[in-house]
Amino acid sequence: MLAIIGGTGAGQLANLEVTRRQVVRTPYGDPSGPLTFGEVGGKPVVFIARHGYGHTIPPHLINYRANIWALADQKVTQIVAIASVGGIRADMGPGVLTLPDQIIDYTWGRKQTMYEGGLHPVTHIDFTEPYSADLRATVLAAARQVGVDIVDGGVYACTQGPRLETAAEIRRIQRDGGDIVGMTAMPEAALAREAGVEYATIAVVSNWAAGQQDSARGVVFTTASGVFEAAMARTNSILEALLKQS
Ligand code: HPA
Repeated sequence: MLAIIGGTGAGQLANLEVTRRQVVRTPYGDPSGPLTFGEVGGKPVVFIARHGYGHTIPPHLINYRANIWALADQKVTQIVAIASVGGIRADMGPGVLTLPDQIIDYTWGRKQTMYEGGLHPVTHIDFTEPYSADLRATVLAAARQVGVDIVDGGVYACTQGPRLETAAEIRRIQRDGGDIVGMTAMPEAALAREAGVEYATIAVVSNWAAGQQDSARGVVFTTASGVFEAAMARTNSILEALLKQS
């Protein structure tokens, strides 16, 4: 079964016919909220809002382990994560959809693994390709089917937040090869790999990153813009097409 993790500006799934909500307890504590089970066009899907249903959990306090564990426990085999990001690369301005294929992790102090000793042997997952190539291809095909443009590939730089970056930090990230910047890819992607769940992210650019383009003097951080809302609507049409294929 496919799961969708909704991010900022995607606290609900359009066209989801909810069948039930379920509280899942995990060895790592509570997920961001109950899992919402439902159907889109007759196809089953599970949804969870990463920041909680009232958008109250900041990126560094999200219980990523509980979220991934809960989804895996419900026999989820694929996760499509939605994330709002800042754009760094010239073709990744506000309103653009991207399907990153790499990650650089700048976060610190987050619980990065489900294997913490005790009964669990130390485990080093392969993370050369942090996103599932198969699931990325499926998302791309779904986007093509509904005629929605999505940039194929890019490096998601994951910062700690919740503050936005300085202009110099963005210039460093740019030198490092980062194309978009967000706060939630890690450890989410790594934990999905640990759980054996295919994982891909549709990153929706909400603003130019600090110091870039019209954010030269400051970032206006909002998801309440027409451009962002239209991008979320295009994201939803990709998700619908994806579910119909599954
Ligand atoms: N930086 C980090 N995370 C973000 C941004 C940003 O500019 N925009 C949306 N999420």
